[in-house]
Amino acid sequence: MKQATVTAYAKINLVLDVLRKRDDGYHEVAMVMQAIDLADTIVLEEAQRNWLITDNKHVPPNMNNLAMRAVTLMQQYFHQVPPLQVTLQKRIPVAAGLAGGSTDCAGVMLGINQLYHLGLGLSDLERLGAELGSDIPFCMGGPTALATGRGEKIEPLPACPDLFFVLVKPSFGVSTPKVYGNLRVAELREHPDVNRCIRGLEEKNAGQVLRSMGNLLEHSTFELQPDVKKLKDSMIACGCPHVLMSGSGPTVFAAFEEEAQAQQYYRTVSKQYPGAIFARTVNQNLLEERVALYGTHGKEISTN
Ligand code: C5P
Repeated sequence: MKQATVTAYAKINLVLDVLRKRDDGYHEVAMVMQAIDLADTIVLEEAQRNWLITDNKHVPPNMNNLAMRAVTLMQQYFHQVPPLQVTLQKRIPVAAGLAGGSTDCAGVMLGINQLYHLGLGLSDLERLGAELGSDIPFCMGGPTALATGRGEKIEPLPACPDLFFVLVKPSFGVSTPKVYGNLRVAELREHPDVNRCIRGLEEKNAGQVLRSMGNLLEHSTFELQPDVKKLKDSMIACGCPHVLMSGSGPTVFAAFEEEAQAQQYYRTVSKQYPGAIFARTVNQNLLEERVALYGTHGKEISTN
């Protein structure tokens, strides 16, 4: 029986600016998004009915899960897609601001597209993904992109120079709608500089990329969860100037140009936060290899 295995990468926001609240309840954003090599593994196999198996108790094993909503959406549009069993091996923390649910959703759609030769291009997949969530279109492509609109309009950016990250996810989660709901954009005068970050990418200037990192949502999340601000301060105190909350939080990451420095910092931070995660930027080659197809007898088959 045919099956697909997909590596679904997490993302961080190097810059997250919010421009205004829209009439539809969403916020207009401008974000520089970057895929990192922290990843979930998804296996898609034909089954008697749609169902999800996961090793993470924080993932609800029901049809509201984004991975399973991706399966039903694809089945609605493409009747040749049969019932599927989705096995989800989670490494990306849940409700962390790392697009874990969104990347699983994108991974399921990418896997189904290849497994059933649907022939969907990136823009088709981005459009379908946007039906299920604002961060999903980015997770279809990457590895470095500008996301605008409510986050669903994606323009590729020059690949980010290699960067290394140490991520810490607090034990609690935060609700993205609450974080956006608590943000008073009009009152905030200082916004992160998206264009400065983009220039840094164009010039392959890792230092400038790091210096332009910023996230307007920190104002709101820090107000709702002061422990996230404390975490950020303590990570700066551990010896890294480039520390930022990812997405709506609560994960905070420290970013480095030099791998050895990042490894040293990881060892220090891990003593205080044993769940700290080490990650690096994902490049285009890794992204292109993220779907593997297997035929009968478990033999890998070409994805072309
Ligand atoms: O699109 P997604 O389902 O990920 O968004 C979750 C919630 O986050 C939205 O219902 C909205 O409350 C908030 N949001 C927002 N502006 C955005 C993205 C999300 O207000 N650009």
